[in-house]
Amino acid sequence: MTTTDTFELLQPYRVADETFVIPWALEAPPVGHFPMNSMVIRGAEPVLVDTGAPAVRSQWLEAAWSVVDPLDVRWIFLTHDDRDHAGNLLAALAECPNATLLTTWFSIGRMAEEWETPVNRCRFMIDGDTVDIGDRTLVAKRPPLYDNPTTRSLFDSKTRVLWAVDTFATNVPTPLPDVAGLSDEEFRDGQYFGGRLVSPWVALLDDRKFRAVVDDFQGLGAEVVAGCHTPVLHGSRVAAAFDLLRQLPGVPAWTEFTQADLDRWMEMAETSVPPEQPRPSAT
Ligand SMILES: [Fe+2]
Ligand SMILES: [Fe+2]
Repeated sequence: MTTTDTFELLQPYRVADETFVIPWALEAPPVGHFPMNSMVIRGAEPVLVDTGAPAVRSQWLEAAWSVVDPLDVRWIFLTHDDRDHAGNLLAALAECPNATLLTTWFSIGRMAEEWETPVNRCRFMIDGDTVDIGDRTLVAKRPPLYDNPTTRSLFDSKTRVLWAVDTFATNVPTPLPDVAGLSDEEFRDGQYFGGRLVSPWVALLDDRKFRAVVDDFQGLGAEVVAGCHTPVLHGSRVAAAFDLLRQLPGVPAWTEFTQADLDRWMEMAETSVPPEQPRPSAT
């Protein structure tokens, strides 16, 4: 385990009492990096919040078990079935035989394309549902932005930590533990970019209706916001992120990278990489 001072990918760090983010990130040229986090709540009944990406399965499992003994894990809260959140679900279920999976009917169905989720270990937790986990109550809530219809965020009423899932997604110049490490411009631009990337439909929204949804989400009273694709938000950056989120329907849509961009990147790569050596002839 580490602290924000000794931040390293796949080294869990504490963000609130008994609450740890497992950080990971993907390089995303030309916009920097995108965080790919998950979280562990180590209370009376420990909870995995999402299960990380399959690309780093063994390292992710090792990181999770550095926070909590897998035999002690009582709950796995799956926000939705996207690969970056559900990628190690079967491995986590196998290594946590005492855990109940908090999911939804539609997530189970969507994952059936790839695997059969053990329904006898599931409990449905839809938007608005709560679960008592011994020393705290967790609330599931659909966040304002999402890229999968099954998405629910998770609010811990004891620590006031909100796991915002894909809302507040941002690119970062380099992986970092807390958005305090971003300038005001980087923070604003990242929130605008990530929000429109994850949910391009935000441009279609009725401004007034969306504001009401954001107000309701902010009304949970989160003091710390963690998410899959953002460094952790504390203090004034929490309110600032909600304010930026409210602006999104009015921000012009992000223009996707085109084939011309890809051609240019390939050209640059070709000129910067030594020419390929001739392959040995097949015998
Ligand atoms: Fe997603
Ligand atoms: Fe995601």
